[in-house]
Amino acid sequence: MAHRLRVVRTVATLRRALAPWRKRGDRVALVPTMGALHAGHLALVRAARKRARRVAVSIFVNPAQFAPHEDLASYPRTFDGDVAALEDLAVDLVWAPTVAEMYPSGFATRIVPEGPATAGLEDRFRPHFFGGVATVVGKLLIQCGPDFAMFGEKDYQQLKVVTRLAADLDLPTKIVGVRTVREKDGLALSSRNAYLSADERSAAPTLHRVLEDCAEQIAGGALIARVLDEGGAAIERAGFTIDYLEARHAETLQPVAAIADGPIRLLVAARIGRTRLIDNIPVTS
Ligand code: PAJ
Repeated sequence: MAHRLRVVRTVATLRRALAPWRKRGDRVALVPTMGALHAGHLALVRAARKRARRVAVSIFVNPAQFAPHEDLASYPRTFDGDVAALEDLAVDLVWAPTVAEMYPSGFATRIVPEGPATAGLEDRFRPHFFGGVATVVGKLLIQCGPDFAMFGEKDYQQLKVVTRLAADLDLPTKIVGVRTVREKDGLALSSRNAYLSADERSAAPTLHRVLEDCAEQIAGGALIARVLDEGGAAIERAGFTIDYLEARHAETLQPVAAIADGPIRLLVAARIGRTRLIDNIPVTS
């Protein structure tokens, strides 16, 4: 029989769809997304499939994590194509609530994450962001009760925030990080890459190239502050305005001054035209 993917739009239907899996003891893996799926998201789905008999993907463009001036209205929405791609990967269920289902009238509870969420990286430029992410991810994990939930390293600070959230709220879900999927030229796949003009697209791989250069020099013992200064200048020469380019402890996200303070993760956010890109890589010796 052909594989049947179910699209579910209410919490009540979701519960009914999950109950028989639970009863049979099937393990469930959840992949939370905002849709506009690309090969990065699909890598998460494949990783989910390796861990669990049942794979659910949520598609929900979460208003709570966008500031008023951000791209909520124009965020790419490609629902039918997304569902077709997920059907090809034998996904069992797509959880696609409306905004009114997720945040019914009277909704008044927000999760306020600290620790990695206040490390002074994304949170410095998007103060709304991790509160919105934590609130929706908390709800998704409670709604679906998965054994595993997959998150990309592409959004490294988010991965750390969600890992902390699941531990702090005693959620029984294991948070699994998945490596960043890149274009051949190194650009990390992102739904927002669709906003890049041809010129911006050709400048964009600079971010990853500079991260790799910096990582190599830091691993070789060069002074971190000097390496990042030079890396930042190279990113700006390519046409970007930098929000941050930093070396942080890979687990706590606290600042590091020397290689001995590691393991180190390099993280960057920079704007080109109307697009804001983020990326990160480990420093490996
Ligand atoms: P979204 O940007 O759609 O990303 C969904 C998941 O895909 C995230 O875990 C993200 O890190 C991962 N991802 C994106 N690009 C990737 C790439 N190139 N390689 C590997 N993984 C990649 O992140 C969100 O949605 C939202 O904040 C969400 C967690 C769904 C909460 O609303």
